[in-house]
Amino acid sequence: MRTIDWVGGAVEIIDQTALPGEERVLRLHTVGELIAAIQSLAVRGAPALGVAGAFGVALAARIHVDDPVALAVAVQKVETARPTAVNLARGARRAAALIPHGPEAVLAEACAVRDEEIAASDAMARLGADLVAELCGARPRLLTHCNTGALAAVTVGTALGVVGELHRRGRLAGVIASETRPLLQGARLTSWELTRWGIEHRVAVDSAGPFLMARGEVDAVILGADRICANGDVINKIGTYSHALGARRAGIPFVVVAPESTVDHDTVSGAQVEIEDRGSAEVTAWGEAVNPAFDITPFDLVTAIVTDRRVIRVDRGEKP
Ligand code: MRU
Repeated sequence: MRTIDWVGGAVEIIDQTALPGEERVLRLHTVGELIAAIQSLAVRGAPALGVAGAFGVALAARIHVDDPVALAVAVQKVETARPTAVNLARGARRAAALIPHGPEAVLAEACAVRDEEIAASDAMARLGADLVAELCGARPRLLTHCNTGALAAVTVGTALGVVGELHRRGRLAGVIASETRPLLQGARLTSWELTRWGIEHRVAVDSAGPFLMARGEVDAVILGADRICANGDVINKIGTYSHALGARRAGIPFVVVAPESTVDHDTVSGAQVEIEDRGSAEVTAWGEAVNPAFDITPFDLVTAIVTDRRVIRVDRGEKP
């Protein structure tokens, strides 16, 4: 399964707004369609957003081949479609750097972004499974948050890829998928992916996570990131910080899995990151809501960050 790909001159995505009820593929032919898909979360998750950004620029480069001003405007719109995951602007800028060489060169670079994310998923699964085995012993019970599977990448995923690898090794005792209010990426998407992989699991409401840890039912928390800052602060789906606090209180490892494309050396700490607020309608029909889509977990609550190239032991003072 590829969550996002370039097929016959258009971008194809699995429409994540329709899951788990319906498995629907959308073909996106214009930059406007792609941006709408990003903003509605039809395509989502940091690595997948990086690929979407790159393919968005590839679409723009074809459509505006004779109009550099319109092309620059389109690139800017793709880059800023969502603000928090560093991958989106990074993927778009990588592809945009090839614009002087023509649309085919832009597309080739976008395909390279896609292929690098596929390779990164496999590497993270192996490195992460080795680390979890080292930290937690034979058959851990894991809690994960949001969706970090193939749906959030292109194939396999980040933290959920590690869960899958532990399952393949026969070294997984259980998984709790935190439901992820308000859009239910955990309850809808992670649960759908784990079911497809044949991995038994249970869904818990987000607020149950720290209590389940305190009750001794979780051996480690493992989840992804939308941006990792130079000091090790982790920006991820709202609810991550609560799980990190719960893990610290329970004395269990808190492991973040994300590709190098999510590590942002230019951002010193989480305080500098724009946190997307997705408005009231996702939360309540009866009034105003504050709806931050992400939160900031300070580095001192993080045990380790696993990328596709290295394990950063944040608990031992290592920095990204
Ligand atoms: O708003 P979303 O669904 O795009 O948020 C996604 C997350 O927060 C994921 O945990 C993160 O991108 C890591 S995905 C491998």
